[in-house]
Amino acid sequence: MIKKCLFPAAGYGTRFLPATKATPKEMLPILTKPLIQYGVEEAVEAGIMTMAIVSGRGKRAIEDHFDISYELEHQIKGGSKEVLLDEIRSLINQCTFSYTRQVEMKGLGHAILTGETLIGNEPFAVVLADDLCYHKEQGVLSQMREVFERYQCSVVAIEEIPLEHTHKYGVIAGKLVDGTDNTYRVTDMVEKPDPKDAPSNLVIIGRYILTPDIFDILRETKPGKGGEIQITDALLEQAKQGKVIAFKFKGKRFDCGGVDGFVEATNWFYEKIEE
Ligand code: UTP
Repeated sequence: MIKKCLFPAAGYGTRFLPATKATPKEMLPILTKPLIQYGVEEAVEAGIMTMAIVSGRGKRAIEDHFDISYELEHQIKGGSKEVLLDEIRSLINQCTFSYTRQVEMKGLGHAILTGETLIGNEPFAVVLADDLCYHKEQGVLSQMREVFERYQCSVVAIEEIPLEHTHKYGVIAGKLVDGTDNTYRVTDMVEKPDPKDAPSNLVIIGRYILTPDIFDILRETKPGKGGEIQITDALLEQAKQGKVIAFKFKGKRFDCGGVDGFVEATNWFYEKIEE
């Protein structure tokens, strides 16, 4: 049973400067909702109600977003605009939010390890809010939860990409699990390889379900690519024991950590509401 979802949200978001100088990247809106709210909604849809957020300096807006704003709510009460707060209010009522800070940005693996204090000794989901995922029937985390229930080991969501983009992602090698066409037992993983060194064109996107032994592994993981503690390196240790499944999810993913993907997502969601 997965009860908690970790949101590493301490990164500087340098690709969005100057917008992210004083505003967290996770609070940039696609239409009227900030990226992190889409992530929380996806977790709730997967039956996860406890949100654990790893934040950092300058990220106060995230805490304020998942809280009541008395003056504002009093001001619009009874008016036509009150309905605009329905979705966020419902999340605040259903979920609990807890926070810890990553003091130094030492990489995604380090951010996840920082979240241990909020997670404890149980399997948990991880959402990178700048990867915005959509599927009209079943969200990606909900699909992954079913995979986890079946295999009882760490699960990473993967996508097939053009080989020339492998240098932006963690890339896996794996063997299809018998009887499936979308589920791989991972045999190797490489962080941001050049296309010529990439073991495949199957890349990890910002959705994980991790078993808690990952924390002990992360404690021992040395800085890797870019001098950062990489979650890919820690997952490779689990993969060597046959304990990582890669799952090719159904649905769309937008890389909202960069301007192109952000604009694409904005246009796509706008057309969707127009429909
Ligand atoms: P990214 O590399 O996409 O985010 O990290 P970033 O560093 O904020 O963005 P750029 O490259 O400078 O524009 C992936 C995720 O990991 C988190 C980020 O917040 C993001 O959600 N992260 C990364 C941390 O929480 N801590 C870190 O030390 C590094």
